Amino acid sequence: MSNEKVLIVDDEKLIRWSVRRQLEEWGYTALEAESGTGGLAQIRAEAPDLIVLDVRLPDLSGIEVLREIKQNYLSIPVIMITADPQLDDIKTAIKLGALDFVKKPLDFDEFQVTIANAIDRLQLRSERDSLREEVKRRSGYHEVVGRSPRMVELMNFVRKVAASEASTVLIQGESGTGKDLIAKAIHYDSTRAEKPFVAINCSAIPETLMEAELFGHERGAFTDAKAQKKGLFEIADGGTLFLDEIGEMSTYLQAKLLRVLEDQIIRRIGGVKDIGVDVRVIAASNRDLEQGVREGTFRQDLFYRLSIIPIFIAPLRHRREDVLPLADFFIERYNFRFRKSLKGITPEARDFLVRYDWPGNVRELKNAIERAMILEESDYIRPTYLPIQVTGQAPGYESTLPVTTPDSPEIAPLSASGPTMASWRPLPSGRMIPVLELPREGTSLEEVERELVGLALRQTGGNQTHAAKLLDISRDALRYKMKKFGFDSESDN
Ligand SMILES: Nc1ncnc2c1ncn2[C@@H]1O[C@H](COP(=O)(O)OP(=O)(O)OP(=O)(O)O)[C@@H](O)[C@H]1O
Ligand SMILES: [Mg+2]
Repeated sequence: MSNEKVLIVDDEKLIRWSVRRQLEEWGYTALEAESGTGGLAQIRAEAPDLIVLDVRLPDLSGIEVLREIKQNYLSIPVIMITADPQLDDIKTAIKLGALDFVKKPLDFDEFQVTIANAIDRLQLRSERDSLREEVKRRSGYHEVVGRSPRMVELMNFVRKVAASEASTVLIQGESGTGKDLIAKAIHYDSTRAEKPFVAINCSAIPETLMEAELFGHERGAFTDAKAQKKGLFEIADGGTLFLDEIGEMSTYLQAKLLRVLEDQIIRRIGGVKDIGVDVRVIAASNRDLEQGVREGTFRQDLFYRLSIIPIFIAPLRHRREDVLPLADFFIERYNFRFRKSLKGITPEARDFLVRYDWPGNVRELKNAIERAMILEESDYIRPTYLPIQVTGQAPGYESTLPVTTPDSPEIAPLSASGPTMASWRPLPSGRMIPVLELPREGTSLEEVERELVGLALRQTGGNQTHAAKLLDISRDALRYKMKKFGFDSESDN
């Protein structure tokens, strides 16, 4: 007897109830969720074998939920159901990989066949079991990768914030550093996790629409307001509202937002009733909001209010230790998604990845890995398929400086005859340092320092400004050290 788990995501209780009854009669285990977010939470918790998904849901649209499912749990088949099939929805759903599109009211004889076919397609049980493992392992699918001290510290802080009562959080960081991801991590790590996480991008929507989106409106509040509509604050009640690119919000709405944050009360447009809401607002910006304050485009009072709990995500080039763990993480993900089994990255390619500055941060790295994995026909990602800006770079780059990987056969062992610059590793600052081993009898830090100062001066032809820069110290500090170590400081410049 089959005992597959089927998840029904539909906001209509009656539909859930009747589908559930049928499924149980047919021998399946039925799970229910009444919203998109609830559905996603169930998927994480239960790893269902099949999902029956309504197109119209109160929070996320069924299409958005489908997209999320296909992004994270590719192999779980999804059957879409709707009372009002729109060609656009059908097209999108099929393109996203929905298995089937069924019209409500459901004809249960037909529906049984649809379900049975879907289950058949799940193929071998063993495959399903490994899938279940996969989903479980992924259950923190807002998994944040990072082993740099900065990221470790940040995640500790994020956990504290999530567990706290903090009602506003501000996340700042360059584009692609993971602001969305951290916002979701805060939400799903908090007691609000079962309530909606609602995101809106403040730069994408004109002011008047934005106001209606956020606060809702009563019927007839303005010409287009044919019906009453709940705003996102109401929809996110008990959960989290993510205001992306807050720096783009108009000053009028900024003022309104500030009042809501202070009073936890909203009023729909055209409404007279105060509605209490319990929402954690996470705002994000990739622009410097303080500068916005200085330039008068961002309200200072709102800035202070938001920055009670500030989170700053460092650009990837300032935490290079995260590059390879992230790359490995994405390989694993895309192995799963593309049904490939790449084993890793060649030392040479690793070296390129660590050295590159990643102006597009983690997103750029992720895209680079995705592309390489699509093109790569060998078991390892090689430089060949890395983007040209990653490999065609750095004057003075020598391809003989691989990053050490313990299990890599291609790695040159540290030369037996004393330390060589065989390999490099990043420092917490992101700068590179040769991997050396101290001799058993020890060494002298001062003499090593003297060597490095000498090296910098030689390498720059005695140019103190450049030498100081190479060592990341001030020119005064360099002068002091030169004097201390007895270097000739004639060649001033
Ligand atoms: N530390 C991390 N671990 C795993 N994945 C990450 C990490 N940081 C970012 N990512 C991934 O990189 C991509 C970009 O991240 P995200 O969308 O959160 O960036 P963002 O800061 O919101 O960018 P933007 O300012 O452009 O909106 C996403 O796919 C995200 O999952
Ligand atoms: Mg973002």
